Amino acid sequence: MSEFVFAAKAEAVKEGEILTVEVGEHTIGLTRLNGQVCAFRDICTHDDGPLAEGAIEGEEIVCPRHGARFHLRTGKATFPAPAPLPIYEAIEQNGEVRVRVEGS
Ligand code: FES
Repeated sequence: MSEFVFAAKAEAVKEGEILTVEVGEHTIGLTRLNGQVCAFRDICTHDDGPLAEGAIEGEEIVCPRHGARFHLRTGKATFPAPAPLPIYEAIEQNGEVRVRVEGS
């Protein structure tokens, strides 16, 4: 099983904002919902739109290209996205946000 690896300083991950980081081969968006860190693949499952450029509405991120919505905790998608958004396990430890990604 892969381990949690450093993704960002905790203070850089803010409610209502998306921070994009590269962890290994993964492009990951980080934000907070009610203070808790959420980590998701920062690439839309519809046509690879950059989700970090979209808006957070409630607990969802809205893709800026064609408007698909993804739940930030579950990855559940709406039309036109054909598949859920990959969600990563994330923890906060010693002022760092760490995520678990395959192959790291
Ligand atoms: S690229 Fe995201 S909805 Fe089309």
